[in-house]
Amino acid sequence: MSLTPTLARTWIDRWDRQQEGYLPDREIMFAVIADAVAANADHPDPLVLDVACGPGSLGARIRERLPQARVIGIDADPVLLELARTAYGFELVDRNLADPAWAAALPNEPIDAIVSTTALHWLYLDQLAALYVQSAKLLRPGGILLNGDDMATAATDIDQLHTAIGARQIEREGVGDREGWVEWWTAVTAEPELATAVAERDNRRWEHPADSGVTYEQHVQALRAAGFRTVESIWQYGRRRIVAAVN
Ligand SMILES: C[S@@+](CC[C@H](N)C(=O)[O-])C[C@H]1O[C@@H](n2cnc3c(N)ncnc32)[C@H](O)[C@@H]1O
Repeated sequence: MSLTPTLARTWIDRWDRQQEGYLPDREIMFAVIADAVAANADHPDPLVLDVACGPGSLGARIRERLPQARVIGIDADPVLLELARTAYGFELVDRNLADPAWAAALPNEPIDAIVSTTALHWLYLDQLAALYVQSAKLLRPGGILLNGDDMATAATDIDQLHTAIGARQIEREGVGDREGWVEWWTAVTAEPELATAVAERDNRRWEHPADSGVTYEQHVQALRAAGFRTVESIWQYGRRRIVAAVN
């Protein structure tokens, strides 16, 4: 027996509900990123790279918004890659983004947009800065990077407000009792159809911070240092932002 698209979609739907317990406006972030990719595209079939794609939720929303887009996802988690591969049929690249060699695994074509959600806080600042340098090299001139993630601000009093606003949003939206990260992983790793991917995942766990604490200001500085000509936050709710950088 092997994983079917229907079963993969069931696990991904459960992943999406789980993630919304932490990020009630996750679908809005997807929509803002997809709209920005569409607005910045100079042709109907942009090449889009979803960095740390997980099970492919963002790439899928981009394909809904831009059906002709070519989406490539990159991640290092065999279980999430297997779900994305089976559910969506994306092109997928299995690489650790902490190793700058990841870029060499991509097709040698200019990329129109590099997108990411809720993932780059797993990278330390030097790894993130290297990823931004690689991204600037991979993007076409005028191409766009869009990173949606939690980013603290260096202004600690404002950061406390952001944290309180985020906590209140979860209460107000009534999502605080959703299945959590640990529970989802406990369930999915018991799925018999994913046994091979789970064994591979157990083999290759890599060291990373739960949250590297890279601030919004450090993201902006690293993107500018990488050579992006315009860097600006285009959406924010509490600590959660989407930062856009135009190449
Ligand atoms: C919270 S999940 C978010 C997944 C997806 N972007 C989403 O929004 O549903 C974080 C993802 O980042 C990936 N990730 C974190 N660090 C990575 C690294 N160094 N190399 C490759 N993938 C990484 C994880 O494997 C995981 O899929």
